[in-house]
Amino acid sequence: MKILYFTATGNSLYIAKSIGGELYSIPQMVKEGIYEFSDEKIGIVFPLHAWAVPPFVVDFLKRATFNCDYLFAIVTYGIYSAAVGKHLSDIGKEAGFKFSYINRIRMVDNYIPTFDMKKEIKKEPKKKIEQHLEVIKSDITTYKQGMLKETFLDKMATAYMIRREGKPFSKKRLKVHVYGEGIENYITVNDHCTQCGTCANVCPVANIRMDNENGKISLDNRCFTCFACVHHCPSNAIHIKGEVNENRFRNSHIKLSEIIKANTQK
Ligand SMILES: Cc1cc2nc3c(=O)[nH]c(=O)nc-3n(C[C@H](O)[C@H](O)[C@H](O)COP(=O)(O)O)c2cc1C
Repeated sequence: MKILYFTATGNSLYIAKSIGGELYSIPQMVKEGIYEFSDEKIGIVFPLHAWAVPPFVVDFLKRATFNCDYLFAIVTYGIYSAAVGKHLSDIGKEAGFKFSYINRIRMVDNYIPTFDMKKEIKKEPKKKIEQHLEVIKSDITTYKQGMLKETFLDKMATAYMIRREGKPFSKKRLKVHVYGEGIENYITVNDHCTQCGTCANVCPVANIRMDNENGKISLDNRCFTCFACVHHCPSNAIHIKGEVNENRFRNSHIKLSEIIKANTQK
């Protein structure tokens, strides 16, 4: 079994490791230009972003070929996953593959514009991650077929977010991220930055430059707001506009070195 994963703060890597099999980081596959995979079972594990599949994972899936009998996807999320199952199925239809099984697992929500990471970590036991993980593992072992049950409203929510393509909402209270241009106004860097390079090492799209004369890092416009740089900065120098506070998160089972190994583009 092969598992392809993307992770920013370790939740999806923890799930991928727990399911077992050979692990392949999607950022590393993109870096090496590998898009064809063969095995009896193949799985994809990644975090939900804005009620949908993150654009980086969409681009990868649209270029990928899977030669397997059983293709599954597990989406990690924090609060509400809308119609991510339909989004995945639609991507598969367009790219020419079909998922046998799609499921999701609730974990710590790492979305700092809305959530205090300390409180989220405290709430983690209530999410019963290990119990849900056991069900998912057993489903995969027994080749269970099945999709997520999603309502009309869930589908409307996901379709709306996909149409927005990361454009900011006009209402200031809805602190929703922005992709690409304008990112430097959304993700800011303060004077605590030591240009240590951790952020550049965890960035899956090589979007961070260290050559800035003012002694701080700077961002290009390939960012899709996974927040890896923000959560793993050892000086807590990287901030999101409107973030709840300075608390940050990394899955307790995952080391920073594993995130770097998964995401580095060097
Ligand atoms: C930009 C962004 C958007 C997110 N949107 C959602 C969302 O719409 N619904 C949700 O339940 N969780 C959302 N999350 C939370 C993540 O899906 C969740 O914390 C995930 O487990 C993180 O996985 P990772 O540690 O592998 O990166 C979002 C996180 C980020 C960074």
